[in-house]
Amino acid sequence: MAGNWKMNPATEQDAMDLSESLTKLLGDETCPIDDENPLCTEVVVFPPHPFISKVKEVVEDAGITIGAQSIYFEDKGAYTGSVSASMVKSLGCEYILCGHSERRQTFGDDDQAINRKVLKVLDSGMKPILCIGESKAEYDLNIKNEVCAMQLSKDLANVTKEQMKEVVIAYEPVWAIGTGLVCAAGDANETHAFLRTVLARMYDDDVAQETRIQYGGSVTPDSVDELMAMPEIDGCLVGGASLDADKFGRIINFK
Ligand code: G3P
Repeated sequence: MAGNWKMNPATEQDAMDLSESLTKLLGDETCPIDDENPLCTEVVVFPPHPFISKVKEVVEDAGITIGAQSIYFEDKGAYTGSVSASMVKSLGCEYILCGHSERRQTFGDDDQAINRKVLKVLDSGMKPILCIGESKAEYDLNIKNEVCAMQLSKDLANVTKEQMKEVVIAYEPVWAIGTGLVCAAGDANETHAFLRTVLARMYDDDVAQETRIQYGGSVTPDSVDELMAMPEIDGCLVGGASLDADKFGRIINFK
C-alpha cells in the first residue's frame, strides 16, 4: 500500500504530525515485502522532497518505507529545481514514482523521459512504481487498453526481465484521480489482467504473474476491501485518503 502525499502537507510540522499519527496507529503491524508473514502488507509513503528525511525518521519505527515522488534522470548538473536518484537514495528512499499522470500532464514528462527515469531508478538500486492509465477522453473512446499497452511498451523499454523483479506498476485511470470516481473493482481487475497479458508478451508468464500491479484513483476505506478482493489487484496507490492517518490506516488494514 502506498501513500502519495503529492504537494501536501504544507509545512514540515504538518508532515511530522501526519507521520506521527500514522506511526502510532500502525505500531509494528507493517513489514518489509520479504517478510514470510502471509498477512504482510508493505507500506510506502511518498512525502514532498523537503520532508523525506524527517518523515523517514518517524515512520520507519512502524516498518514503513519511504519513497520520492519524482527524480530527474541525469546524475547531476544544470537542472534547476530537480533532484537526482543519488540524492533521494542517500535519504533512504527505496521506491520512486515514475510517470504519474500529474507529472505527464503538468510537467510534461513524456514516455521517453519516463523510461529514462525508470532505468535510472533501477540502475541506482531503487524500485520504480511506474504509473500508467488512460484519460477520460481515451476511456470514452474505448481505447484504454491500447493506451496502457503503449505506455507499458515505451516506459519499460530496455528494462530486463531480471530488473522487472524490482518494478511495480500502478494502474491509475486519470479520470479517477482526485475525482471521487473510483473505478469499479471488476473493471480495474479486468484491466490489471489485460496488463498482465501485455507483460507476458513483453517478457514471459512469470513476469506477468509476479509483477505487483497497484490500483490508484480515489481509493478510500469504503472502496479498498472490494478492490483488494480482486485477484489481479496487488495493492493501492492512494492520494487524498493517505493524508488522513485514520483513513490510510484503514486502507492498509483492508479486510
Ligand atoms: O498517486 C495516487 C493518486 O494519483 C491518486 O489520488 O486522491 O485519487 O487517491 P487520489
